[in-house]
Amino acid sequence: MEPNVITHPLVADRLRIVRDASSDTAQFRSAMEQLGQMLSYEALTNLEFDTVPVTTPVTETTGTYVHRNVLFVPVLRAGLGILDAALRLVPEASIGFVGMARNEESHVPEAYLASLPKDLDAKQIFVLDPMLATGGSLIATCEELVSRGAKHITAVCVLCAPEGIAALQESGLPVSLVTASIDERLNSDAFIVPGLGDAGDRLFGPR
Ligand code: PRP
Repeated sequence: MEPNVITHPLVADRLRIVRDASSDTAQFRSAMEQLGQMLSYEALTNLEFDTVPVTTPVTETTGTYVHRNVLFVPVLRAGLGILDAALRLVPEASIGFVGMARNEESHVPEAYLASLPKDLDAKQIFVLDPMLATGGSLIATCEELVSRGAKHITAVCVLCAPEGIAALQESGLPVSLVTASIDERLNSDAFIVPGLGDAGDRLFGPR
């Protein structure tokens, strides 16, 4: 699995805003939402579809009918910051919720919620989480999804650390990754460098 890094200038511009420590909450939320929309658009590029007949006012032709079996899975809390943007692209999607909080000392994610459809084998699944740091949260989320029948998962992560990508690759999970940036590294607190700080705190306030 090689990450799909989106380098469009609008993505890069919104990435600058979320990185900037002087962006206020409203600016941060807005730029994060726009990143969510642009990255989700790319992530949805392989959506399954049928070709169906269409009657225009002039004649008969054919058109594309995208399957309605999309499931978005925001990883709480920060994933909520990009959920609305993804839903604007696929309003028919269903939504499953996973809650993960990283322990600040061990950096190991602790799951506090999994509210998901029972059977996922027919779903096209998109996990939404702005940050891939150690990879622990995404890996735990994808393991849960696979245990419920997920065949393939696409992750939308605004920022990634190389360490998290390596962990995801080593996990062998059936995951594709769309991102705006692979940053330099993790620091000793397992924060992404240069990063953007703590996305959940900047969206919703400190825990
Ligand atoms: C952040 C982020 C990811 C996770 C990434 O969430 O949103 O879910 O950490 O780190 P990892 O790759 O090392 O697991 P956090 O635990 O801070 O929770 P929050 O979104 O509620 O703030």
